[in-house]
Amino acid sequence: MAALPLFVTGCGGGGSSSSPPQTGVTPPLVPAGPSLPPLPSGAIRTAYAGQFAVGAALKPSEVISGSEAAALVADQFSSVTAENIMKPEALAPTPGNYNFGQADEMVDFAVANGMEVRGHTLLWHRATPDYFFEGTPAEVRARLETYIFDVVTHFKDRVQHWDVVNEVVADGGGGTAPYRDSNWYRAAGGPNYIDWAFNAARAADPNAKLFINEYSTEFAGKRDRMLGVVQDLLARGIPIDGVGHQMHINRTLSAQNAFDALQAVDNLFAGLVNHITELDISIYSDPGSCFVNGTGCADDIGDALPASWRRQQAQLYRDLFNGFLTFPSLLSVSLWGLTDDGSWLNTWPVTRTNYPLLFDRDGAPKPAAFAITDPTYEIQ
Ligand code: XIL
Repeated sequence: MAALPLFVTGCGGGGSSSSPPQTGVTPPLVPAGPSLPPLPSGAIRTAYAGQFAVGAALKPSEVISGSEAAALVADQFSSVTAENIMKPEALAPTPGNYNFGQADEMVDFAVANGMEVRGHTLLWHRATPDYFFEGTPAEVRARLETYIFDVVTHFKDRVQHWDVVNEVVADGGGGTAPYRDSNWYRAAGGPNYIDWAFNAARAADPNAKLFINEYSTEFAGKRDRMLGVVQDLLARGIPIDGVGHQMHINRTLSAQNAFDALQAVDNLFAGLVNHITELDISIYSDPGSCFVNGTGCADDIGDALPASWRRQQAQLYRDLFNGFLTFPSLLSVSLWGLTDDGSWLNTWPVTRTNYPLLFDRDGAPKPAAFAITDPTYEIQ
């Protein structure tokens, strides 16, 4: 039988949603999640079929033929993203030497199972070898164009969507804003590298859908800067098809913030597509300083996940997916990982146990998985 809450706290709360848990306060705990039946076969992808693909970011181990993870992915999801192995440092660790092996295995897995692939990512200020930034802007341009043309050509007809540029928008105003002051910006001598990247991707595969991918679009400041960048690209005829909203959020966010991000794109740009590209819901609510310099982060709760937090997370997943159905422009929603133990949020922004995804550390479906697939399921 399902575990029942062991304690009920007498604390009425009162802290802001972004404060770390108060010491000395015991939230209601359950030692493990409620016992749940298996998720029906195909539940996640079929719940949204015809509306949007549902994807997961994967590690190479999660596509190994015969593994439990690969079976779960093929059964439940309709889209795949490589969490790391299609980033420039993985595909081209040294100049001109491509290393497509692992990415090909993942893409072959997706194709064999009738899944879409989101290529992530052709250009980023991280996970990119230094040689990309060496030389004159003209040399940087030629190298970038060659890299993107070669990679997109290699995966032509197997990768339907590309995050052409990732995180090129500034977090604040001033300086180079609305563009991020990055290694790319400096090497190219300005934001032109964004044009170069989109044009090279389009030249290589005219059928692939090309995205700008960005985080924090659920907040107005970052969103407005991103929209300005998109507007400028469109005005100058740069080939861009859609906006990727990473959507790394936490359990205290209102679903409306996510809908605002989608609506803003719809309002300004009829014809552009929306993708949610990296959805996860951290159970920690942190102040901004945690993400800037790792200070003030909520304390690690270890394996004592408060039942109320788990329910709040499942409810937010449900609210999000219900709302997503009301946006015809939204064609893909991807989770940033498969199971809680594999999530990057166990080590970022600080190392602590996190529970951000739909499947637990045993690969079993969490309440959140039932919340988004069964409208009659009462969240426990
Ligand atoms: C992360 C991966 O999940 C980690 O394994 C890796 O160490 C760093 O990158 N935004 C993105 C993703 O666009 O590429 C990042 O992925 C998470 C944040």
